[in-house]
Amino acid sequence: MSDTGKKKSASKKQKKIAPPEGKLGVLIPGIGGAVSTTFIAGVEAIKRGLGKPIGSLTQLGRIRLGKRTEKKSPLIKEFLPLAELKDIVFAGWDIFPDNCYEAAIKAGVLEKNLVDELKDTLQKLKPMPAVFSRKYVKNLNGKHLKSGKTKMDLAGQLIEDIKRFKKESGVARLVMVWCGSTEVFIRPTPVHATMASFEKGLRENHPDIAPSMIYAYAALQCGVPYANGAPNLSVDVPALTDFAKKKKVPIAGKDFKTGQTLMKTILAPGLKSRMIGLSGWFSTNILGNRDGEVLDDPNSFKTKEESKLSVLEYMFQPDLHPDLYSNYYHKVRINYYPPRGDAKEAWDNIDIFGWLGYPMQIKVNFLCRDSILAAPIVLDLVLFLDLAKRAGFDGIQEWLSFYFKSPMYGKGLYPEHDLFIQLMKLKNTLRYMKGEELITHLGLDYYNLM
Ligand SMILES: NC(=O)c1ccc[n+]([C@@H]2O[C@H](COP(=O)([O-])OP(=O)(O)OC[C@H]3O[C@@H](n4cnc5c(N)ncnc54)[C@H](O)[C@@H]3O)[C@@H](O)[C@H]2O)c1
Repeated sequence: MSDTGKKKSASKKQKKIAPPEGKLGVLIPGIGGAVSTTFIAGVEAIKRGLGKPIGSLTQLGRIRLGKRTEKKSPLIKEFLPLAELKDIVFAGWDIFPDNCYEAAIKAGVLEKNLVDELKDTLQKLKPMPAVFSRKYVKNLNGKHLKSGKTKMDLAGQLIEDIKRFKKESGVARLVMVWCGSTEVFIRPTPVHATMASFEKGLRENHPDIAPSMIYAYAALQCGVPYANGAPNLSVDVPALTDFAKKKKVPIAGKDFKTGQTLMKTILAPGLKSRMIGLSGWFSTNILGNRDGEVLDDPNSFKTKEESKLSVLEYMFQPDLHPDLYSNYYHKVRINYYPPRGDAKEAWDNIDIFGWLGYPMQIKVNFLCRDSILAAPIVLDLVLFLDLAKRAGFDGIQEWLSFYFKSPMYGKGLYPEHDLFIQLMKLKNTLRYMKGEELITHLGLDYYNLM
């Protein structure tokens, strides 16, 4: 057995992948936000040679093919028929009417000089009126909204927006990425169970149907792949995950994995792989952007907290390792602190123990820029979801867990949080699409042990 897995079984036949002909439209609920404008301005800057797509696997990542001795590691974007940046066109919705130039200046993530250089393109991007409810995001009060008698009416208006944009822009394909605010915490209820109950709920204005679900429904109705960058349930309810399968549309979520949680999913698998114990992990953050303001509401924070807390539980598997992980204390805090803007600061204090139970500590102080870490994730999700659709993949795309804090997963499974397993899964999925051998990293044949 080679480390490419001689069994070739899963992989040997190349999937049919339709070529990325024509333009690709990217639809963004929350287009006036920090992540969206950093993503859009970034793509425009890269197109003009004003910056590099640092952090993007689709643009800079390579994929090894065959045995190590073959030295074949093409760029992912050359290995697979991904859409090119020059073919991407943007549109979206926001509850504030600012165009993307004004919104990028307000978000304050990118330097004004750079945003000014892109002004001609950014100011043409004006948000469409949003579907919004303050019941779901208490700390924002925008007025650039749609009105309709029922939630089904609102979904119909979004569908019209999508069709109109497709026609007017002449794009061949579309992808939607939710970059809107974090909604208040809700659990799935019977209205989310089936498409029949969900559509009845839309017609009857059921209170448990959040705005982000209405966008997801509209996307799926139009056959548009949907990714959820926030921890809201959104598309992660049975009615919509089943609908995605039925409509043959790929979906992914939830909550972009940036900042502190990215660090967690890098550190925790390392500690666990060496059977180092954990007695406590205290995480705190200060941030001062609009996201921070939204998360200042305890109900929106609860949604984020659930997303951030679940990570360790799944990675450490306390039921399988009671001596090491059955009794640790995990706390996550987010504090809204306006002077910081988007330049978040995160502290982690990690209490660990080693041989014979002797205690040790790790301190992590991450001065990150949230939207700078999120923008390349949005780009990769757009390109990979578009690829997935052209390759005939549908429903939950678990191989995109790599990008999420709370990865969506199929019935009867549990989510995979370990960043390195996620990356292996992602790359093997790409090899599988192209009929290349999967890489298991066994590697015995290099030493003639066969
Ligand atoms: N920045 C990160 O690194 C990061 C990481 C993980 C998740 N997220 C999530 O991504 C989302 C965007 O983050 P951000 O920092 O850009 O926040 P932001 O507050 O700057 O942007 C959110 C935008 O969504 C708009 N909005 C809210 N509800 C809407 C609706 N129903 N329809 C249309 N627009 C709506 C807001 O007006 C705002 O412009 C948040 O949910 C955040 O929690 C961000």
